[in-house]
Amino acid sequence: MKFSSRTHTCGELRESNIGEKVVLNGWVDTRRDLGGVIFIDLRDRYGLTQIVFEPGYNESAHHEGKHLRSEYVISVEGKVRKRPQGTENPELLTGYVDVMVDKLIILNEAKTPPFQISDETEAGEDLRLKYRFIDLRRPRMQKNLVMRHKMYQVTRNYFDQNSFVEIETPILMKSTPEGARDFLVPSRLHKGKFYALPQSPQQYKQILMVSGMDRYFQIVKCFRDEDLRADRQLEFTQIDVEMSFVDQDDVFQMMEGLMAKLYKEVWKKDLELPLRRLTFDEAMEKYGSDKPDLRFNLEMKTLNKVFENTGFKLFRDQIEKGIVTGLLAPGCGDYTRNQLDVLTDFMKKLGAGGLIWIRVKEEGLESPTMKFFTEEEQQNLVKELGAKAGDLILILSGQKIKTLNLMGHLRLEMARRLMLIKANAEPKLLWVTDFPLFEWDEETKRYYAMHHPFTSPRIEDVDLMESDPGKVKARAYDLVLNGSEIAGGSIRIHNSDLQKKMFKALGIGEEEAEMKFGFLMNAFKFGAPPHGGIAFGFDRLAMIFAGEESIREVIAFPKTASGVSLMDDCPSNVSDEQLKELHIKIRNQEKLI
Ligand code: AMO
Repeated sequence: MKFSSRTHTCGELRESNIGEKVVLNGWVDTRRDLGGVIFIDLRDRYGLTQIVFEPGYNESAHHEGKHLRSEYVISVEGKVRKRPQGTENPELLTGYVDVMVDKLIILNEAKTPPFQISDETEAGEDLRLKYRFIDLRRPRMQKNLVMRHKMYQVTRNYFDQNSFVEIETPILMKSTPEGARDFLVPSRLHKGKFYALPQSPQQYKQILMVSGMDRYFQIVKCFRDEDLRADRQLEFTQIDVEMSFVDQDDVFQMMEGLMAKLYKEVWKKDLELPLRRLTFDEAMEKYGSDKPDLRFNLEMKTLNKVFENTGFKLFRDQIEKGIVTGLLAPGCGDYTRNQLDVLTDFMKKLGAGGLIWIRVKEEGLESPTMKFFTEEEQQNLVKELGAKAGDLILILSGQKIKTLNLMGHLRLEMARRLMLIKANAEPKLLWVTDFPLFEWDEETKRYYAMHHPFTSPRIEDVDLMESDPGKVKARAYDLVLNGSEIAGGSIRIHNSDLQKKMFKALGIGEEEAEMKFGFLMNAFKFGAPPHGGIAFGFDRLAMIFAGEESIREVIAFPKTASGVSLMDDCPSNVSDEQLKELHIKIRNQEKLI
């Protein structure tokens, strides 16, 4: 149908437009019929404008206006007028004017939407995802997507101005172990062979450094077949970066600049630089996490010194090899036995053997464990934690990293109970540095690379790689925002001898290394510059900037927590013909249907 294109968007008209003839196009948002006069809020991405069908103004337009229903797509021509006194809506930028309609064209009718199009919605997430095209009409979702767009632009601009080159890397690549499970794509042309979707462009970007590209970035999709959470998707976006001839400080400086720009231009906030840095060891000891939330204090304290001569067996066993860690919960000294049991159960569910609690009273410490502590230990404990009457002391002991991690969870739980994270709290961004190079896996009884096998150890630790791998620290770093890991990276190994040592420590034989990483190793033989980089979790960053609780709110078409796209019903069955072409046979096919 022929229609006039809009002269203005639905968010544009102001009092300065009064008297003008305009054309608006959009969706019928809400409709009110008041004594024969029909008021409609017309909606598009830019806003809402009230349009009015009045029989005394234009009889035929009014007659047609009666047919309008929610979500009809229309085009109207009319005249902008000042809203009659008392009917203004100061909450809308367009709220002081409306448009008296002369001509209406219905461009498309619409079925009644399955839920209302408003910022707050009662609709469950599954329904929202099934009708994502409706869900994305909600202004809140549109705002999130527009903000995401702005993030792309600021990022591209920043890197362009700093001489980075955006280079695309393949989506079909060789399957290489990177930590998560690969998504595999069967090859039609090469029977029985598979491509893998990249978990990240890690090796390609390192090869680009060998090629002399010097500064690379890419806003890129990554694919990881892992269990999903609020901040994890099977496919997600990274801002991927690699730089040559740099050390950690150079990477930090460049990324801090990017964050300051994003803060300013997207979040409208100032970022104070340089950012705070915490080593992994400090972060674990004080906050029980390698992604500490510093929006509140609540610091844990290591108590090994307090109990160094203790007769309490549970602690004594941990003084040498493990840890005794304490947390002060201010003002929680009146927790009842029942509340403390709930807290203990919470910890047990997370894997703790138990939880020691001590109420701090005017007259002294109160706890079933108190009989095991000497007077001196009690005094030192109170002093070390700065405890006062009315406080609650919580203590865990055990294997170091596991126990610190558990206490970190308790720290977050207590912060939640004490409502320590205020809605308007200043965001806290920091670097966590000096991660361990290796992570011990009890199940397989071997070391794994904590970041990835190309991460360089600290030069001063290289000799420990054989003698005491658990002690080696990496030149690896994470960027943490409000307790969320938003980026991670490292300075890489660029020397084949060191890389060989690394593979050896990881129990990767020469043949296996050749098979899995041969192309990178080969490239390194032809002059690899020192290099390092980082990758940002773009969706996580967008989620935090948008003030959302899940990355699904900032991704146009996300998968559900069980990895399904409800709108297009995927994953789905494929035809026998397709499978045959790919040389694939599904086992127990009858069970799948
Ligand atoms: P890493 O694996 O730490 O590093 O990933 C970088 C960042 O990506 C985000 N992220 C995710 N976001 C959503 N869903 C997921 N499933 C998911 N997994 C990770 C996180 C994380 O900090 N190649 C290295 C980077 C490098 O060394 O340069 C890498 O991918 O915010």
